[in-house]
Amino acid sequence: MSKHLQLIKCLILCGFLATILVPTHCQLRPFGASRVEKRQREKKILDKILGGTYDSNIRPTGGNSTNGETQVTVNLAVNAVSKIDDFNMEYSVQLTQRMEWSDDRLKFFQLDEDRTNPIKHLTLTDVSKIWMPDIFFINEKAGNFHNIIKPNVYIRIFPNGVVSISIRITLRLACPMNLVLFPMDTQKCAIIMASYAWTTDDLIFRWREENPVQLPDLALPRFTMQSNITSICDRETVTGKYSCIRVDFVLTRNFSFYLTQMYIPCIMLVIVSWVSFWLDENAVPARTALGITTLLTMATQQANMNKNLPPVSYTKALDVWSGTCLAFIFCALLEFALVNYATRFDKRTKAKIHEHVGHDPVVGGWLSRRYPSTSKKIDVVARILFPLLFILFNIVYWLAYLLNA
Ligand SMILES: *[C@@H]1O[C@H](CO)[C@@H](O)[C@H](O)[C@H]1NC(C)=O
Ligand SMILES: *[C@@H]1O[C@H](CO)[C@@H](O)[C@H](O)[C@H]1NC(C)=O
Repeated sequence: MSKHLQLIKCLILCGFLATILVPTHCQLRPFGASRVEKRQREKKILDKILGGTYDSNIRPTGGNSTNGETQVTVNLAVNAVSKIDDFNMEYSVQLTQRMEWSDDRLKFFQLDEDRTNPIKHLTLTDVSKIWMPDIFFINEKAGNFHNIIKPNVYIRIFPNGVVSISIRITLRLACPMNLVLFPMDTQKCAIIMASYAWTTDDLIFRWREENPVQLPDLALPRFTMQSNITSICDRETVTGKYSCIRVDFVLTRNFSFYLTQMYIPCIMLVIVSWVSFWLDENAVPARTALGITTLLTMATQQANMNKNLPPVSYTKALDVWSGTCLAFIFCALLEFALVNYATRFDKRTKAKIHEHVGHDPVVGGWLSRRYPSTSKKIDVVARILFPLLFILFNIVYWLAYLLNA
């Protein structure tokens, strides 16, 4: 019991000493009180600038601009490019759009009471409270805001009246493609933004000076991002001139996918079709089967590749390739028809000569002595002619397209 009393006495003494020893300037405020107070100051300022005469339908005047139009500085952060669709000629992009302008009515530098601990900026999440530029995406097909778990948008108001808004959106944008060089092509996909209602007398958009489009290392499906070009594209329509800005993403198609999926299999099929020239001219089932199989495989391959492409009115580089491969295989099959015909012709002539002369014919010529029958001669010529022509075609094809790409 006495031990407990001693402990209590000790505690009281310690408390007393602590009270004396704590310096007077170190006020014992409840933790976080200054922050609560700051929130209250923010609320007061917000009520003051947004209450009363502020009308969110009326655009702010001037700011820094010379002619009194509102100048909005835009920058984008691209978070992901999820799909580049050749068939529908569109792509999907998820981005954070940031805009900045100056609204004199929202200046609150004078209203901030505590100058020693000034408010850096006010944050709003309700976009309807203040004036906003009516930006829209010209090449948009569909799009949506993100609302999980709160709308992904914020507005900051700075003491000097500068307003900055950040909003996260996902867009499906049109990207017209020219597929003449497909699959060695380079496409330009754009994001085009303009004002819907305000003409250039009232509102102009400009890219931020430095780093207008922030692109992380994007893992693009089947493409490589070469560069991004920002520009101004003010448009004149029947209702007036509207401010417009755009960024073009230069995308180069990854060729390796098509090399392994289309080009190498085609080369293999064409070479396999040449095996026929080395088989005996009397091996009719083997040579027919070889020709037909390679022809069908090639046709299926071609159809498979075109399945994911739009039906365009011009010839693509891939069509030239697959068409020529198909033609080579088709000619190899025709060559066998010729050989087969020649075999029967050979037999008939041999029989006729045998009837007349009584022994096999002796014919001259170099080639003729080694390969006495016409059918064999056709096969030997084909063995050399087909590879030669195919090599020649390859040289012309790759030179023509790789130099153009
Ligand atoms: C206006 O000009 C001032 C000084 O030149 C600059 O600090 C400010 O950022 C500009 N405001 C806008 C919205 O561009
Ligand atoms: C985008 O353009 C900027 C400025 O030209 C450049 O610094 C940046 O590397 C480009 N990003 C990509 C991914 O091409």
